[in-house]
Amino acid sequence: MLWRIFKYTGHLFHLRHRKGHGIHSPYLFEFLSRVIFNSEGVECPPMVRQEHRALKKDLTPAGGEGRSVRFFVRHSSVSEKHAALLHRIARWFHPEMMVELGTGLGISTLYLATGSPDTPLHSIEGNTERASFAAQLVSRCMLGPVSIHWGDMDEKLADILPLIPGRFLAYVDGNHHYEPTVSYVKSLMERAGEEAVIILDDIHWSKGMNRAWKEVISWPETRVSIDLFHMGILLLRKDLQHEQLKIKF
Ligand SMILES: C[S@@+](CC[C@H](N)C(=O)[O-])C[C@H]1O[C@@H](n2cnc3c(N)ncnc32)[C@H](O)[C@@H]1O
Repeated sequence: MLWRIFKYTGHLFHLRHRKGHGIHSPYLFEFLSRVIFNSEGVECPPMVRQEHRALKKDLTPAGGEGRSVRFFVRHSSVSEKHAALLHRIARWFHPEMMVELGTGLGISTLYLATGSPDTPLHSIEGNTERASFAAQLVSRCMLGPVSIHWGDMDEKLADILPLIPGRFLAYVDGNHHYEPTVSYVKSLMERAGEEAVIILDDIHWSKGMNRAWKEVISWPETRVSIDLFHMGILLLRKDLQHEQLKIKF
């Protein structure tokens, strides 16, 4: 906890880019203003927000250790603000495939899937109860081509990798340790075309995650990295200048 407070203070101190000021690339400027800062006021479908809010109050057990849905959603799921950003990113890029590592109860899945409803989404979850809860959520909300893969992330990602086209959107939100995180991003980058986008959650959650983030943003394939503190975004387009942005979101 102390580590995160320390890093957050540092994040605020080092902020250079607010609302896209000082950005020269029109593509990046548009991404920052329209998608990150939502200048067009895009809203998620009301059904998505209603489901999310209902789950925040749901006391039924889920995911083991006697924990409730409410506990998991409040402590381990993406926040409503960051989930809405996932929705806008999916909507903006309209990728050929979405890959989610760490389904949890399916909250982030819901926001991604409704952002680009006709895009196949493969989501991996290792906990049986959560995977089945998420599958029920997907079917209740009648989401499009979403597949929840239950099993170990390393194994399931290896199965899915050959199917991933160049223009994909990946959201890495599970197994938050240095080695797996670096290895997942590396494997995804090997599949990536220029239009691929990789989002990592909890990039400053621990020293290991912070190290993983620093490493992946230093790779030449990463043209632009956007550090929002709780989340980081990697853009790979070769026409972008190498830039490492820190933004107050
Ligand atoms: C932070 S939660 C995901 C939350 C979800 N993305 C959301 O925002 O609603 C991370 C999930 O990753 C799963 N996970 C962690 N390590 C894993 C592994 N090695 N294989 C499969 N699943 C794993 C956990 O069971 C947990 O449900």
